[in-house]
Amino acid sequence: MRIRKLGKCLPLAAGLMGMLLPAIPAMAQAKGSKHAVEDGPWMNKSLSPDERADLVLKQMTLDEKIGLLHGNGMAHASQWQMPLTYLSNGGAGMTLGVPRLGIPNIYMSDAAYGVRDSGENGRYSTALPSNLGAASSWNPQAACDYGAVIGSELRAQGYNMTLGGGVNVTREPRNGRTFEYMGEDPLLAGTLVGNLMKCEQAQHVIGDIKHYAINDQETGRNIVNSIISKRAMQESDLLAFHIGINIADPAAVMCSYNRINGDYACENKYTLTDVLKGEWGFKGFVVSDWGGTHSTEKASAAGLDNEEPMADFFGPKLKEAVEAGRVPMSEIDDHARRVLRSEFLSGIVDDPIQKGVVDIGHGFEVAQHVEEQSIVLLKNDKAILPLNPAKVKSIAIIGGHADVGMISGGGSAQVDPPGGNAIMPPGKGATHWQDHIWFPTSPLKALQAKLPDTKVEFNSGDDTASAAALAKSSDVAIVFAYQWISEGMDLPNLSLPDNQDALIDAVAKANPRTIVVLETGTAVTMPWLDEVSGVVEAWYAGSSGHIALANVLTGEINATGKLAMTFPKSEQDLPHPMIPVLTKEDEGQGTGAVNGTTHVGSKYSVSYDEGVKVGYKWYEAEHKQPLFPFGYGLSYTTYAYSDLKTDSAQKTVSFAVKNTGKRAGTEIAQVYATLPDAAGEPFKRLVGWQRVELAPGESKTVSVTVDPQMISIFDEQKNGWELLPGAYTILAGPSSAETPLKGAFQLP
Ligand code: BGC
Repeated sequence: MRIRKLGKCLPLAAGLMGMLLPAIPAMAQAKGSKHAVEDGPWMNKSLSPDERADLVLKQMTLDEKIGLLHGNGMAHASQWQMPLTYLSNGGAGMTLGVPRLGIPNIYMSDAAYGVRDSGENGRYSTALPSNLGAASSWNPQAACDYGAVIGSELRAQGYNMTLGGGVNVTREPRNGRTFEYMGEDPLLAGTLVGNLMKCEQAQHVIGDIKHYAINDQETGRNIVNSIISKRAMQESDLLAFHIGINIADPAAVMCSYNRINGDYACENKYTLTDVLKGEWGFKGFVVSDWGGTHSTEKASAAGLDNEEPMADFFGPKLKEAVEAGRVPMSEIDDHARRVLRSEFLSGIVDDPIQKGVVDIGHGFEVAQHVEEQSIVLLKNDKAILPLNPAKVKSIAIIGGHADVGMISGGGSAQVDPPGGNAIMPPGKGATHWQDHIWFPTSPLKALQAKLPDTKVEFNSGDDTASAAALAKSSDVAIVFAYQWISEGMDLPNLSLPDNQDALIDAVAKANPRTIVVLETGTAVTMPWLDEVSGVVEAWYAGSSGHIALANVLTGEINATGKLAMTFPKSEQDLPHPMIPVLTKEDEGQGTGAVNGTTHVGSKYSVSYDEGVKVGYKWYEAEHKQPLFPFGYGLSYTTYAYSDLKTDSAQKTVSFAVKNTGKRAGTEIAQVYATLPDAAGEPFKRLVGWQRVELAPGESKTVSVTVDPQMISIFDEQKNGWELLPGAYTILAGPSSAETPLKGAFQLP
């Protein structure tokens, strides 16, 4: 296959390369003598990545440096083909290395919840549960295991850079990419993405955190101007990135499509140079989102290091700008040094890619364990769950294609299921990035296997009356409900699609012993909530989702997950009841990755005037009651909280959590703080948590040390963080809405 492609593409490549990218032929062909590479002092592993980058940079020509700063097309995108795209291993992007100096090419693949495009590339990838699902585990170790699986599968498939690590805080729950992110709280999201990326990069792939920043809706994503105060972004959106970057030391950060306060994120001096590289001291490189580069000189000066996937601005135009003196060589050196440092830091120079066979069994195992911790039990009246086969002799499984599979999230995050889409719409063959893809993970079959003595029957739910009839004649009904979301779209509302509310309503009326299992990528509204006995949020459940779900429904695994985002009662309660509507002229700007040239001057904007009040902070400050609060999740056992102690000097909080029920369980004990009045923030912030494993009757002391930044404010006048003097209320409990323990820090 590779050979056939080579034959087809080389003549074209040879012809175009001279015209477009004079630098490439020499680099692509140069093998470099083995001797030169091995002798280079930059190959000395005992030197730091910075020292090695400095040493090798001195050897490089301008063409070689520029080669590090742009892409070479995107494998499966017809609009983004370049002469060397055929060499990119089927990935989203490739940046050339310098073979004569031992610097490898960078092979990039999307890998949000697993490696993308395995179908088209004839490979196999594990689908982990959605990132939002994994965030509901509140478990840094689970995030680490998640990242390690993806990292090892990337390498096995011939990639040495991930385009994963989404950590935009959920300002807009209708955002089609909510499932790719880690919820609404900067500490939770940042901690989990940091652990995910740390362990992914440890597999010797260049780690990436994205989309930097304020890229919180897909509507008009290529043009939208996100208007937001510095304080709001520093205390919420940017803080999530900062925490993640501090933990992972990722080699790359991807700047996003949107504008921030007027300037495109990929040419925004404030976010890229002042904050990321300045205040935070980020030493890796900034890669543009695909087609998100809009200029040469401005972007380069603002801190963009690498244009992907093309060379429209950072190829010949950048070279010309250097030669004409409009871009100083020091700027090129800084960009190139950052790319080189990242290559040494991540280990891709010393440990080159070795293709191999993905460890499928390990992937299944990790996907299952992460999902078991991600599932959130939202309602469990009269202990309808776990299912007790001694009492439940018949179960009606209704809707959601539960006989064949479970749904996944679309867009560039999509992972291809083995055997293709379990639900193939008539006339559909190949997959499109926005197909609704179902994994062949049948909850029906998993439950039948777990409950051999129970009659478990399926009804598609297509005919409400027949579904209700089956529910009525069964001891328990379980309705499987789905909500598909994807990059390139936002939801019109948070209602379940396809008349599923009516189906649930009818089934619950026929049998109040109804449980709803949700497979969703974000929050949903639940007009039927009072009528059903149980609600389980399973998210997009990944390659082993059915097994994990059956384990939780039957109680083999206790439910532990807690929501990483608020579920509102209605869209009217959101900071923005409606996403601003695009003008006719701007239509389509959220569906693709290419900016329509006529729309560059668009005035489309969204004002995040709710400021720092993101998620639960908004509901508390505005006195709005959510449907389910941030941090909420039930268990099959119960816990009691007591004995809160605080130490203001050490900024520590300790308290006891006791398992007061009959089953072993893991409680996610949360600590919140409210700041002194002078902060002007009359709502709590999450400042720490601990997962506590408890046997029945067991009690443990939880200790949390509060990082001063988590209780500081960003002072715009001083352009820095400030820890105000005064009284801080410290709260602890099982969710943001239930904090039975109260104490204080008194700070000088
Ligand atoms: C997405 C990125 C992705 C890139 C490459 C863009 O459309 O926004 O998240 O990494 O494409 O596929």
